[in-house]
Amino acid sequence: MSQGPSVAVPESLEGVVAAHTVLSDVDGLAGRLTIRGYAVEDLAHRAGFEDVAHLLLDGFFDAMPSDLAPALGAARVRAFAEIAALDEGLARRDPVEAVRALIARLPDGDGLDTALVLIAAPAVFTPAVLRVAAGQSPVAPDPALSHAADVLAMTRGVPATDGEARALDAYLVTVCDHGLNASTFAARVVASTRAGLTSAVLAGLSALKGPLHGGAPGPVIEMLDAIGTPDNAQAWILAALARGDRLMGFGHRIYRVRDPRADALKAAIRQLAQSQTNLASTTVPGRLAFAEAVEQAALRILRDHKPGRPLDTNVEFYTAVLLEALGLPPASFTCVFAMGRTAGWIAHAREQLATGKLVRPQSVYVGPRTKAAA
Ligand code: ACO
Repeated sequence: MSQGPSVAVPESLEGVVAAHTVLSDVDGLAGRLTIRGYAVEDLAHRAGFEDVAHLLLDGFFDAMPSDLAPALGAARVRAFAEIAALDEGLARRDPVEAVRALIARLPDGDGLDTALVLIAAPAVFTPAVLRVAAGQSPVAPDPALSHAADVLAMTRGVPATDGEARALDAYLVTVCDHGLNASTFAARVVASTRAGLTSAVLAGLSALKGPLHGGAPGPVIEMLDAIGTPDNAQAWILAALARGDRLMGFGHRIYRVRDPRADALKAAIRQLAQSQTNLASTTVPGRLAFAEAVEQAALRILRDHKPGRPLDTNVEFYTAVLLEALGLPPASFTCVFAMGRTAGWIAHAREQLATGKLVRPQSVYVGPRTKAAA
Protein backbone atom coordinates (compact mmCIF):
# COMPACT_ATOMS: atom_id res chain seq x y z
CA MET A 1 0.00 0.00 0.00
CA SER A 2 1.40 3.38 -0.96
CA GLN A 3 1.10 6.21 1.57
CA GLY A 4 2.05 9.84 1.29
CA PRO A 5 4.91 11.37 3.27
CA SER A 6 2.34 13.14 5.45
CA VAL A 7 1.87 9.92 7.52
CA ALA A 8 3.48 10.49 10.92
CA VAL A 9 6.35 8.07 11.55
CA PRO A 10 7.50 7.85 15.19
CA GLU A 11 11.21 8.43 15.02
CA SER A 12 13.15 5.25 15.86
CA LEU A 13 9.82 3.64 16.93
CA GLU A 14 10.09 5.72 20.12
CA GLY A 15 6.91 5.23 22.16
CA VAL A 16 5.54 2.52 19.84
CA VAL A 17 4.26 -0.59 21.62
CA ALA A 18 5.28 -3.64 19.59
CA ALA A 19 4.55 -6.52 22.00
CA HIS A 20 2.77 -7.56 25.15
CA THR A 21 5.08 -9.39 27.48
CA VAL A 22 4.92 -11.15 30.83
CA LEU A 23 8.71 -11.08 31.10
CA SER A 24 9.85 -7.65 32.25
CA ASP A 25 8.54 -4.16 32.86
CA VAL A 26 10.72 -1.09 32.49
CA ASP A 27 9.24 1.94 34.28
CA GLY A 28 11.34 4.77 32.93
CA LEU A 29 9.79 7.50 35.06
CA ALA A 30 10.04 5.69 38.39
CA GLY A 31 13.38 4.06 37.55
CA ARG A 32 12.07 0.55 38.18
CA LEU A 33 12.80 -2.74 36.42
CA THR A 34 10.54 -5.67 37.27
CA ILE A 35 11.33 -9.18 36.04
CA ARG A 36 8.30 -11.49 36.17
CA GLY A 37 7.03 -9.67 39.24
CA TYR A 38 10.34 -9.23 41.08
CA ALA A 39 12.38 -6.03 41.44
CA VAL A 40 15.70 -6.48 39.65
CA GLU A 41 17.73 -5.31 42.66
CA ASP A 42 16.09 -8.00 44.85
CA LEU A 43 16.86 -10.66 42.27
CA ALA A 44 20.47 -9.47 41.95
CA HIS A 45 20.84 -9.64 45.73
CA ARG A 46 19.02 -12.92 46.41
CA ALA A 47 18.85 -15.11 43.29
CA GLY A 48 21.43 -16.86 41.15
CA PHE A 49 21.56 -16.68 37.37
CA GLU A 50 20.20 -20.22 37.02
CA ASP A 51 17.14 -19.27 39.14
CA VAL A 52 16.47 -16.19 37.07
CA ALA A 53 16.95 -18.02 33.76
CA HIS A 54 14.39 -20.53 35.07
CA LEU A 55 12.06 -17.68 36.02
CA LEU A 56 12.30 -16.26 32.49
CA LEU A 57 11.90 -19.55 30.61
CA ASP A 58 9.18 -20.99 32.85
CA GLY A 59 5.96 -21.60 30.94
CA PHE A 60 7.63 -21.29 27.53
CA PHE A 61 8.93 -24.87 27.34
CA ASP A 62 7.37 -28.22 28.17
CA ALA A 63 9.05 -30.32 30.84
CA MET A 64 11.20 -27.66 32.46
CA PRO A 65 13.33 -29.20 35.24
CA SER A 66 12.65 -27.63 38.63
CA ASP A 67 16.37 -26.83 39.01
CA LEU A 68 18.05 -25.52 35.87
CA ALA A 69 21.62 -25.71 37.22
CA PRO A 70 22.45 -29.35 36.25
CA ALA A 71 20.85 -28.98 32.80
CA LEU A 72 22.73 -25.73 32.19
CA GLY A 73 25.98 -27.34 33.36
CA ALA A 74 25.43 -30.18 30.89
CA ALA A 75 24.65 -27.63 28.17
CA ARG A 76 28.01 -25.91 28.83
CA VAL A 77 29.71 -29.24 28.23
CA ARG A 78 27.78 -29.68 24.97
CA ALA A 79 28.67 -26.14 23.85
CA PHE A 80 32.37 -26.81 24.56
CA ALA A 81 32.39 -29.41 21.76
CA GLU A 82 32.12 -26.48 19.32
CA ILE A 83 35.46 -25.10 20.51
CA ALA A 84 37.17 -27.48 18.09
CA ALA A 85 36.18 -24.97 15.38
CA LEU A 86 37.99 -22.09 17.13
CA ASP A 87 41.34 -21.28 15.55
CA GLU A 88 43.73 -18.43 16.34
CA GLY A 89 42.55 -16.36 13.38
CA LEU A 90 38.97 -16.39 14.62
CA ALA A 91 40.02 -15.85 18.25
CA ARG A 92 41.91 -12.67 17.32
CA ARG A 93 38.79 -11.06 15.86
CA ASP A 94 36.60 -8.80 17.98
CA PRO A 95 35.35 -11.26 20.64
CA VAL A 96 31.69 -10.59 19.74
CA GLU A 97 32.43 -11.54 16.12
CA ALA A 98 34.28 -14.68 17.18
CA VAL A 99 31.54 -15.75 19.62
CA ARG A 100 28.87 -14.96 17.02
CA ALA A 101 30.68 -17.13 14.45
CA LEU A 102 30.75 -20.05 16.89
CA ILE A 103 27.07 -19.61 17.80
CA ALA A 104 26.23 -19.55 14.08
CA ARG A 105 27.51 -23.15 13.86
CA LEU A 106 24.80 -24.35 16.26
CA PRO A 107 21.71 -25.83 14.62
CA ASP A 108 18.42 -23.97 14.79
CA GLY A 109 15.63 -25.40 16.90
CA ASP A 110 12.83 -24.34 19.21
CA GLY A 111 13.19 -26.80 22.11
CA LEU A 112 14.67 -26.53 25.59
CA ASP A 113 17.88 -28.34 24.55
CA THR A 114 18.57 -25.73 21.90
CA ALA A 115 17.69 -22.96 24.37
CA LEU A 116 20.09 -24.22 27.05
CA VAL A 117 23.01 -24.69 24.66
CA LEU A 118 22.41 -21.14 23.41
CA ILE A 119 22.39 -19.77 26.97
CA ALA A 120 25.59 -21.74 27.65
CA ALA A 121 27.24 -20.65 24.39
CA PRO A 122 28.51 -17.13 25.20
CA ALA A 123 29.55 -18.35 28.66
CA VAL A 124 31.70 -21.12 27.15
CA PHE A 125 32.84 -19.46 23.93
CA THR A 126 33.96 -16.12 25.40
CA PRO A 127 36.56 -17.58 27.81
CA ALA A 128 37.83 -19.89 25.04
CA VAL A 129 38.15 -16.99 22.58
CA LEU A 130 40.07 -14.90 25.14
CA ARG A 131 42.41 -17.76 25.98
CA VAL A 132 43.13 -18.85 22.41
CA ALA A 133 43.75 -15.19 21.42
CA ALA A 134 46.32 -15.08 24.25
CA GLY A 135 47.99 -18.29 23.03
CA GLN A 136 46.50 -20.44 25.83
CA SER A 137 44.45 -23.62 25.61
CA PRO A 138 40.71 -23.42 26.28
CA VAL A 139 39.61 -24.72 29.67
CA ALA A 140 36.71 -27.19 29.70
CA PRO A 141 33.62 -26.32 31.74
CA ASP A 142 32.89 -27.92 35.09
CA PRO A 143 29.16 -28.70 35.09
CA ALA A 144 29.15 -28.92 38.89
CA LEU A 145 30.03 -25.22 39.28
CA SER A 146 27.56 -22.38 39.14
CA HIS A 147 27.31 -20.75 35.74
CA ALA A 148 29.12 -17.61 36.97
CA ALA A 149 31.88 -19.50 38.81
CA ASP A 150 32.45 -21.66 35.73
CA VAL A 151 32.78 -18.60 33.44
CA LEU A 152 35.54 -17.22 35.66
CA ALA A 153 37.27 -20.60 36.01
CA MET A 154 37.17 -21.16 32.24
CA THR A 155 38.57 -17.66 31.68
CA ARG A 156 41.42 -17.85 34.20
CA GLY A 157 42.21 -21.54 34.35
CA VAL A 158 41.96 -21.38 38.16
CA PRO A 159 38.86 -21.27 40.37
CA ALA A 160 37.32 -17.93 41.28
CA THR A 161 36.63 -16.93 44.86
CA ASP A 162 33.03 -17.16 46.11
CA GLY A 163 32.91 -13.36 46.25
CA GLU A 164 33.97 -13.05 42.59
CA ALA A 165 31.47 -15.69 41.47
CA ARG A 166 28.71 -13.90 43.42
CA ALA A 167 29.61 -10.58 41.80
CA LEU A 168 29.45 -12.02 38.27
CA ASP A 169 26.24 -13.83 39.18
CA ALA A 170 24.68 -10.54 40.33
CA TYR A 171 25.74 -8.96 37.04
CA LEU A 172 24.25 -11.76 34.89
CA VAL A 173 20.98 -11.50 36.82
CA THR A 174 20.90 -7.71 36.52
CA VAL A 175 21.17 -7.74 32.72
CA CYS A 176 19.08 -10.87 31.97
CA ASP A 177 16.10 -8.98 30.51
CA HIS A 178 14.97 -5.42 29.91
CA GLY A 179 11.74 -4.97 28.03
CA LEU A 180 11.82 -4.38 24.30
CA ASN A 181 15.36 -3.05 23.97
CA ALA A 182 16.99 -3.06 20.51
CA SER A 183 18.52 -6.54 20.77
CA THR A 184 15.39 -8.13 22.22
CA PHE A 185 13.26 -6.54 19.53
CA ALA A 186 15.68 -7.86 16.89
CA ALA A 187 15.44 -11.34 18.42
CA ARG A 188 11.63 -11.17 18.47
CA VAL A 189 11.47 -10.04 14.83
CA VAL A 190 13.58 -13.01 13.74
CA ALA A 191 11.65 -15.40 16.01
CA SER A 192 8.41 -14.15 14.45
CA THR A 193 9.53 -15.55 11.08
CA ARG A 194 9.87 -18.99 12.77
CA ALA A 195 13.54 -19.14 11.81
CA GLY A 196 14.48 -20.79 15.15
CA LEU A 197 16.13 -19.82 18.41
CA THR A 198 19.72 -19.82 17.14
CA SER A 199 18.78 -17.32 14.44
CA ALA A 200 16.95 -15.17 17.00
CA VAL A 201 19.95 -15.17 19.37
CA LEU A 202 22.31 -14.24 16.52
CA ALA A 203 20.07 -11.28 15.70
CA GLY A 204 20.06 -10.22 19.35
CA LEU A 205 23.82 -10.50 19.65
CA SER A 206 24.38 -8.49 16.47
CA ALA A 207 22.18 -5.67 17.79
CA LEU A 208 23.82 -5.80 21.22
CA LYS A 209 27.26 -5.24 19.68
CA GLY A 210 26.71 -1.57 18.85
CA PRO A 211 28.13 1.14 21.15
CA LEU A 212 24.68 2.71 21.62
CA HIS A 213 23.50 -0.56 23.18
CA GLY A 214 25.69 -3.31 24.70
CA GLY A 215 28.96 -2.08 23.23
CA ALA A 216 29.21 0.88 25.63
CA PRO A 217 31.07 -0.55 28.68
CA GLY A 218 34.41 -1.07 26.89
CA PRO A 219 34.45 2.63 25.93
CA VAL A 220 33.52 3.52 29.55
CA ILE A 221 36.89 2.06 30.63
CA GLU A 222 38.63 4.04 27.88
CA MET A 223 36.91 7.18 29.20
CA LEU A 224 37.90 6.49 32.82
CA ASP A 225 41.49 5.76 31.79
CA ALA A 226 41.66 8.90 29.65
CA ILE A 227 40.32 11.03 32.53
CA GLY A 228 42.89 9.48 34.86
CA THR A 229 42.24 11.54 38.02
CA PRO A 230 39.09 13.12 39.50
CA ASP A 231 40.57 16.61 39.02
CA ASN A 232 40.67 16.05 35.29
CA ALA A 233 37.04 14.89 34.99
CA GLN A 234 35.36 18.23 34.35
CA ALA A 235 37.82 19.43 31.70
CA TRP A 236 37.83 16.05 29.92
CA ILE A 237 34.04 15.78 29.86
CA LEU A 238 33.55 19.35 28.67
CA ALA A 239 36.07 18.80 25.86
CA ALA A 240 34.37 15.51 24.84
CA LEU A 241 30.95 17.16 24.66
CA ALA A 242 32.40 20.14 22.78
CA ARG A 243 33.69 17.68 20.16
CA GLY A 244 30.13 16.31 19.88
CA ASP A 245 30.98 13.00 21.57
CA ARG A 246 28.46 11.15 23.74
CA LEU A 247 29.46 10.11 27.23
CA MET A 248 29.32 6.33 27.34
CA GLY A 249 27.30 4.94 30.22
CA PHE A 250 24.88 7.89 30.34
CA GLY A 251 21.46 8.43 28.79
CA HIS A 252 18.72 5.99 28.00
CA ARG A 253 15.77 5.76 25.63
CA ILE A 254 13.31 4.80 28.38
CA TYR A 255 14.76 5.92 31.73
CA ARG A 256 14.31 9.59 32.55
CA VAL A 257 15.84 8.94 35.96
CA ARG A 258 18.68 6.75 37.14
CA ASP A 259 18.74 3.24 35.67
CA PRO A 260 18.01 0.99 38.70
CA ARG A 261 20.56 -1.52 37.41
CA ALA A 262 23.38 1.01 37.99
CA ASP A 263 22.82 0.82 41.76
CA ALA A 264 22.35 -2.97 41.74
CA LEU A 265 25.78 -3.23 40.13
CA LYS A 266 27.34 -0.68 42.44
CA ALA A 267 26.14 -2.79 45.39
CA ALA A 268 27.73 -5.87 43.77
CA ILE A 269 31.05 -4.01 43.36
CA ARG A 270 30.99 -2.98 47.04
CA GLN A 271 30.29 -6.57 48.08
CA LEU A 272 33.08 -7.81 45.87
CA ALA A 273 35.53 -5.33 47.40
CA GLN A 274 34.53 -6.43 50.91
CA SER A 275 34.95 -10.10 50.03
CA GLN A 276 38.46 -9.57 48.70
CA THR A 277 41.53 -9.92 50.80
CA ASN A 278 44.20 -10.38 48.15
CA LEU A 279 46.44 -7.63 46.80
CA ALA A 280 44.68 -7.08 43.47
CA SER A 281 41.41 -6.36 45.25
CA THR A 282 42.82 -3.36 47.04
CA THR A 283 42.42 -1.43 43.78
CA VAL A 284 38.63 -2.00 43.65
CA PRO A 285 37.47 0.55 46.28
CA GLY A 286 39.77 3.21 44.78
CA ARG A 287 38.51 2.57 41.26
CA LEU A 288 34.91 2.69 42.49
CA ALA A 289 35.49 6.01 44.28
CA PHE A 290 37.11 7.41 41.13
CA ALA A 291 34.21 6.19 38.96
CA GLU A 292 31.74 7.81 41.36
CA ALA A 293 33.61 11.11 41.11
CA VAL A 294 33.54 10.94 37.30
CA GLU A 295 29.84 10.02 37.40
CA GLN A 296 29.01 13.04 39.58
CA ALA A 297 30.95 15.39 37.28
CA ALA A 298 29.26 13.88 34.20
CA LEU A 299 25.77 14.21 35.68
CA ARG A 300 26.39 17.84 36.65
CA ILE A 301 27.72 18.73 33.22
CA LEU A 302 25.04 16.78 31.30
CA ARG A 303 22.35 18.71 33.21
CA ASP A 304 23.76 21.98 31.82
CA HIS A 305 24.55 20.47 28.43
CA LYS A 306 20.99 19.22 27.78
CA PRO A 307 18.70 21.07 30.19
CA GLY A 308 15.56 19.74 28.49
CA ARG A 309 16.66 16.09 28.27
CA PRO A 310 17.30 14.23 31.55
CA LEU A 311 20.47 12.19 31.01
CA ASP A 312 21.36 9.92 33.90
CA THR A 313 23.67 6.98 34.56
CA ASN A 314 22.77 3.79 32.70
CA VAL A 315 23.66 0.15 33.37
CA GLU A 316 26.82 0.26 31.29
CA PHE A 317 28.74 2.65 33.54
CA TYR A 318 28.98 0.32 36.56
CA THR A 319 29.04 -2.75 34.32
CA ALA A 320 32.43 -1.52 33.18
CA VAL A 321 33.70 -1.02 36.74
CA LEU A 322 32.41 -4.41 37.91
CA LEU A 323 33.71 -6.46 34.99
CA GLU A 324 37.08 -4.72 35.19
CA ALA A 325 37.23 -5.54 38.92
CA LEU A 326 36.70 -9.20 37.97
CA GLY A 327 39.77 -9.00 35.73
CA LEU A 328 37.79 -9.38 32.51
CA PRO A 329 39.23 -7.48 29.55
CA PRO A 330 37.12 -4.57 28.19
CA ALA A 331 37.02 -6.21 24.74
CA SER A 332 34.99 -9.05 26.28
CA PHE A 333 32.39 -6.92 28.08
CA THR A 334 29.72 -7.15 25.38
CA CYS A 335 30.09 -10.94 25.30
CA VAL A 336 29.68 -11.04 29.09
CA PHE A 337 26.53 -8.93 28.72
CA ALA A 338 25.29 -11.52 26.20
CA MET A 339 25.89 -14.32 28.75
CA GLY A 340 23.08 -12.82 30.82
CA ARG A 341 20.85 -11.39 28.11
CA THR A 342 20.63 -14.59 26.02
CA ALA A 343 18.16 -15.96 28.58
CA GLY A 344 15.94 -12.93 27.98
CA TRP A 345 16.25 -13.16 24.19
CA ILE A 346 15.18 -16.79 24.25
CA ALA A 347 12.22 -16.18 26.57
CA HIS A 348 11.09 -13.32 24.32
CA ALA A 349 11.56 -15.43 21.18
CA ARG A 350 9.38 -18.18 22.68
CA GLU A 351 6.81 -15.64 23.83
CA GLN A 352 6.71 -14.13 20.34
CA LEU A 353 6.12 -17.60 18.87
CA ALA A 354 3.40 -18.35 21.41
CA THR A 355 1.51 -15.09 21.28
CA GLY A 356 2.60 -13.05 18.28
CA LYS A 357 2.44 -12.98 14.52
CA LEU A 358 5.03 -12.20 11.87
CA VAL A 359 6.44 -8.74 12.67
CA ARG A 360 6.14 -6.72 9.50
CA PRO A 361 5.83 -2.92 9.81
CA GLN A 362 5.45 -0.56 6.86
CA SER A 363 7.59 2.21 5.49
CA VAL A 364 6.57 5.49 3.92
CA TYR A 365 8.09 5.84 0.47
CA VAL A 366 9.72 9.26 0.08
CA GLY A 367 11.78 8.53 -3.06
CA PRO A 368 11.05 9.66 -6.59
CA ARG A 369 7.68 8.83 -8.11
CA THR A 370 7.56 6.11 -10.78
CA LYS A 371 9.64 7.02 -13.82
CA ALA A 372 9.61 5.44 -17.25
CA ALA A 373 12.62 3.14 -17.70
CA ALA A 374 15.11 4.56 -20.23
N1 ACO B 1 26.19 11.98 26.15
C1 ACO B 1 25.95 13.19 25.60
N2 ACO B 1 24.81 13.52 24.99
C2 ACO B 1 23.84 12.57 24.96
C3 ACO B 1 24.02 11.30 25.53
C4 ACO B 1 25.24 11.02 26.15
N3 ACO B 1 25.49 9.83 26.70
N4 ACO B 1 22.89 10.57 25.34
C5 ACO B 1 22.05 11.36 24.67
N5 ACO B 1 22.62 12.56 24.44
C6 ACO B 1 22.03 13.71 23.75
C7 ACO B 1 22.00 13.43 22.26
O1 ACO B 1 23.18 13.90 21.62
C8 ACO B 1 20.77 14.19 21.82
O2 ACO B 1 21.10 15.53 21.64
P1 ACO B 1 20.49 16.36 20.38
O3 ACO B 1 19.00 16.34 20.63
O4 ACO B 1 21.13 17.70 20.51
O5 ACO B 1 20.89 15.59 19.18
C9 ACO B 1 19.85 14.08 23.04
O6 ACO B 1 20.68 13.81 24.16
C10 ACO B 1 18.85 12.95 22.91
O7 ACO B 1 19.55 11.80 22.49
P2 ACO B 1 18.89 10.65 21.61
O8 ACO B 1 19.97 9.98 20.85
O9 ACO B 1 17.71 11.19 20.88
O10 ACO B 1 18.31 9.74 22.74
P3 ACO B 1 18.07 8.21 22.62
O11 ACO B 1 16.96 7.89 23.50
O12 ACO B 1 17.96 7.76 21.21
O13 ACO B 1 19.49 7.67 23.16
C11 ACO B 1 21.15 6.30 23.99
C12 ACO B 1 19.66 6.66 24.07
C13 ACO B 1 21.45 5.74 22.61
C14 ACO B 1 21.45 5.22 25.04
C15 ACO B 1 22.02 7.56 24.25
O14 ACO B 1 21.70 8.14 25.50
C16 ACO B 1 23.50 7.27 24.15
O15 ACO B 1 24.05 7.29 23.05
N6 ACO B 1 24.20 7.00 25.29
C17 ACO B 1 25.62 6.70 25.25
C18 ACO B 1 25.82 5.22 24.87
C19 ACO B 1 25.42 4.28 25.99
O16 ACO B 1 25.68 4.52 27.16
N7 ACO B 1 24.78 3.17 25.58
C20 ACO B 1 24.28 2.15 26.51
C21 ACO B 1 22.81 2.29 26.72
S1 ACO B 1 22.19 1.15 27.91
C22 ACO B 1 21.96 -0.30 27.05
O17 ACO B 1 21.63 -0.29 25.89
C23 ACO B 1 22.20 -1.55 27.70
